[in-house]
Amino acid sequence: MSGDAHLRLGLIGIGKTGRTYLTALKSLKDAGLLNIEINAVSDVNESNLTKTAREFDVPLVYDDYMDLINDSNIDVVYICTPISKHADMVKQAAKANKAIHCEKPIAHSCPQVRELNAVAKASSVPTSAGLMLRYDPFLLYAKHLVKNNDFGKPILAHVRDDQQFPLDREEYAQWRSDSSVPGGGILLHQSIQDIDVLDWFFGEIVNVYAKVGFYSDLGVEDQASLIMKHKDGTTSTLDSIWHNLERSNERKIEFFFEKGFIEITLESGSTHLDYHLQGEGPIRVHPENTEQVLLEHLHLNSNNLALNIHEPLSDAGMNKHLALSYSFLKAIQSGETPSPNFQEAVLPHRIVDAAYESANMNAPLDIL
Ligand SMILES: NC(=O)c1ccc[n+]([C@@H]2O[C@H](COP(=O)([O-])OP(=O)(O)OC[C@H]3O[C@@H](n4cnc5c(N)ncnc54)[C@H](O)[C@@H]3O)[C@@H](O)[C@H]2O)c1
Repeated sequence: MSGDAHLRLGLIGIGKTGRTYLTALKSLKDAGLLNIEINAVSDVNESNLTKTAREFDVPLVYDDYMDLINDSNIDVVYICTPISKHADMVKQAAKANKAIHCEKPIAHSCPQVRELNAVAKASSVPTSAGLMLRYDPFLLYAKHLVKNNDFGKPILAHVRDDQQFPLDREEYAQWRSDSSVPGGGILLHQSIQDIDVLDWFFGEIVNVYAKVGFYSDLGVEDQASLIMKHKDGTTSTLDSIWHNLERSNERKIEFFFEKGFIEITLESGSTHLDYHLQGEGPIRVHPENTEQVLLEHLHLNSNNLALNIHEPLSDAGMNKHLALSYSFLKAIQSGETPSPNFQEAVLPHRIVDAAYESANMNAPLDIL
């Protein structure tokens, strides 16, 4: 594809995440930022399917996802179903030569992700992985700060990711009765994104030591603590927990460098970034200051943007879906490689697998 080629999209799975993508994609189209059409949706929940298609003005509905994949009116397939459905859908979409966005986690294990990456490569179809924290405006702002200031060498990174149990979602509800689903609690489903962020900031992780805890009756870990060593010598620590507490979900990310400190609080009621460079006072950055960095990252000029795109761009529940999709679809149109793609998803999956292995062995593990 080249230039601003018209892309026809189909979404499989229109639950919580699929709906957010539909809203984000519609905003991109309505604002004239992308030459796209949302042509089809598929879901096994028929009443939701009909209702959502009507709401988003989507002409084609399929209760069988194979019909969407094989529809010649579809160029790009979004897979927003539970993890256990991803592999077959990715394989079929690659076979049908469709560009693929697949939500994270891509699969239950790293070998499966490698296989899906190989299948997509063999069909030469562009891929996109839902590791969307790479499009978080605050994390992009932190990248921008580090690039444009002398923070010195990174020393220590810490992420604390606490979330309420996502029991409203099909896959989690199923776990209660499905003991065949191995491992794969908070670390795989939630904190794979944190691991991706740590890798994105500090480079290759070469060693991991993990402990996991099982405090609920779900049969999957609901607490995980990891110590990781990066190739450049930086140490990262990660603490993740699913809980039933009445508090907002929160990701707290702290980066210590030789000459500075960055702290980012995401998803809670008080999303912000604080940074402190040696010799200067602490500075707090609020959401409105981060939009510019996100736009620059997407090569967009705020002066030329339609007014109706600013609201979704500043909506923390949607802006990452919007930015990731814009970047993915623009890359397809211009013949570039989208990022993050399946190849880039292999490493965080490798670290998650190694962390489970480390916890089982109760020993640190080198990442080979
Ligand atoms: N990137 C992120 O930040 C993020 C956040 C939340 C969820 N997710 C991921 O998104 C995916 C979906 O999660 P969710 O929260 O939207 O779940 P959900 O349960 O709300 O939605 C899943 C939908 O898939 C549908 N579905 C199931 N099997 C299907 C099939 N065979 N064909 C068509 N539709 C089918 C279900 O009916 C449901 O509507 C998961 O992989 C999850 O890990 C990503």
